[in-house]
Amino acid sequence: MLLDVQGIDVRYGRNHAVKSVDLTMDEREIVTVLGANGAGKSSLLKAIQGSEKSTGTVLFDGVDISGWSAPRRVNAGLVLVPEGRQIFVSMTVHENLQMGAYCRKDDVGAEIDAIYDRFPNLAARRDMPASVLSGGEQQMLAISRAMLAKPRLMMLDEPSLGLSPILVKQLFTLIEELNGDGLTILLIEQNTHMALQSADRGYVLELGDVVLSGDAKTLQEDSRLGEAYLGTH
Ligand SMILES: Nc1ncnc2c1ncn2[C@@H]1O[C@H](COP(=O)(O)OP(=O)(O)OP(=O)(O)O)[C@@H](O)[C@H]1O
Ligand SMILES: [Mg+2]
Repeated sequence: MLLDVQGIDVRYGRNHAVKSVDLTMDEREIVTVLGANGAGKSSLLKAIQGSEKSTGTVLFDGVDISGWSAPRRVNAGLVLVPEGRQIFVSMTVHENLQMGAYCRKDDVGAEIDAIYDRFPNLAARRDMPASVLSGGEQQMLAISRAMLAKPRLMMLDEPSLGLSPILVKQLFTLIEELNGDGLTILLIEQNTHMALQSADRGYVLELGDVVLSGDAKTLQEDSRLGEAYLGTH
């Protein structure tokens, strides 16, 4: 087991945003966390990444990392691409990529070249400020930057937000390719249908509780998913 999250609680004052959540991930799995706005999805990911205060236990590859700082978790291979991407808009595309490798001592030139091969739009804009990128290009940059940290587990918080249907498709193709190369992926998505198609398993959060979990196919056929928990239909 690569990730074993036990009894995670996140509280913001009196707001109990994540309530004793358990979640496990095997190496090479894609797992999705679904839930309505405010269900606690981002809070859960931030707790796992160490950027939000929480109680409970996080085991990463069998090691208890609960007390570790966020940068230490990144160094261990636990990387979060946060909601809203958070690229550095005043830096160039190339500088943003270099930032992704800041904790590495080896030469990442070949990896950056491979990123430019994969995303010609980024290559064409390598010396422009990242603020000129479209939403889809920013998302590709954010994921590429995260890849340069050599993650073992990548957590993506609503990567498809604001993307056109074609770009959403490209994004999921990328997610599946990265997974095919051995990356374990924890994915928050509004796009329930696409997420469950790519994922092996899923968890559904409602007001901080896991109300449903299981393999993606079973969840997809569960009528409670849309009606009761996500309020989508
Ligand atoms: N920094 C914060 N301070 C206070 N309350 C917060 C903070 N961040 C989140 N919350 C609250 O915690 C609850 C869960 O928020 P969270 O962002 O985890 O939900 P989410 O499932 O990611 O929602 P969304 O789909 O809208 O992104 C919400 O009630 C939210 O208002
Ligand atoms: Mg969120």
